[in-house]
Amino acid sequence: MPPGYNAKVGNLQTFTLPADVTDTPGHRAMGRAMIQTWRQEGILQISTDSEGQQLQQQAMEASRRFFRRPSHEKAACVDSQSYAGYIASGEEITDGIADYSEIFTVLKDLPPSDPRVQAQWPCHGPCPWPPPFPDRETTTTMKAPIEAYMTWLGRQGERLLRLIEYGLGVSEGSLTRYTRDGWHHQRVLRFPARNATNGRGKTGRGIGSHTDYGLLVIASQDDVGGLFIRPPRQDEEFANWEKSAAGLREEDDGWVYVPPVPDVHTVFLGDMMQYLTKNHLTATPHKVGLNTRERFVFAYFHEPNFAAVLKPLDGSEGALHYGTHFTNMFMRNYPDRITTQRLVRENRYDKLAERELRCYS
Ligand SMILES: [Fe+2]
Repeated sequence: MPPGYNAKVGNLQTFTLPADVTDTPGHRAMGRAMIQTWRQEGILQISTDSEGQQLQQQAMEASRRFFRRPSHEKAACVDSQSYAGYIASGEEITDGIADYSEIFTVLKDLPPSDPRVQAQWPCHGPCPWPPPFPDRETTTTMKAPIEAYMTWLGRQGERLLRLIEYGLGVSEGSLTRYTRDGWHHQRVLRFPARNATNGRGKTGRGIGSHTDYGLLVIASQDDVGGLFIRPPRQDEEFANWEKSAAGLREEDDGWVYVPPVPDVHTVFLGDMMQYLTKNHLTATPHKVGLNTRERFVFAYFHEPNFAAVLKPLDGSEGALHYGTHFTNMFMRNYPDRITTQRLVRENRYDKLAERELRCYS
């Protein structure tokens, strides 16, 4: 555990996802067990198959090579239309305080010819990948191994959603209908060692407490450790799409440390799952502490379509536009980024209200 933190060490339940999720008593039981685990612990683990292990390893190699590149080269990986690309340590803001995380965000890589880019949809644009790595010893680009790993993660995401449908007892497709051409994305993260920061943030703090935005978060970490999560509690209510949950209970007791375990991915839930299930499943607050060594992490987000308008699964009143929530969150975290400046300058935010950006089916 990172020094200076006081937390219970988690002992997470591990599930092995079936390759093909079908309507069988066994898969229904697995879905119910997963739901019970999230409701009690806020997080669970899925075992990583050999293909996933290999893809993760290659992606990790690419991540390490990218973050070793000179600052000016990394800083050039930005785009004025998409929030994809590089975020330097101390650039991201959570609840008013700079995070020490150094990040490469991978969002849908859309060419200028894409109709959504042409129509200036907020957050839509190319992913500013770095140039190929200068030597050919191993991975030659960042793009190929990261995208291959994301494809594998996307398959796990769909399996999980189908198991959750069975576990909740809702009809097939209740969740997966939202993920057609989903706004899936990934953050490739590096955390500096505690004593090797640039001084812009808060000592020992990697990322402040917050919830993530979409349906599922599927994460993997190296052997260093630094993630803390907060299990659901009846006396702690929040709804991040209405009022920011950033900074929530950050200094309170009750956090659980997620120790690194080889060959698993951890899975917890985002705001949209909480909205759809009307708090039966809640988004999991989490935060990151800096350890004595630098640390490399992947966080993959399995998300609704950008244009999806979500409705509670029980058929009750209400509707929530995912694209608006996503845009709000990135504008909040990156107030000074060129992407935010252009979005504001060109009134792109107003487009979120247009019918073409909202899919109700
Ligand atoms: Fe997060």
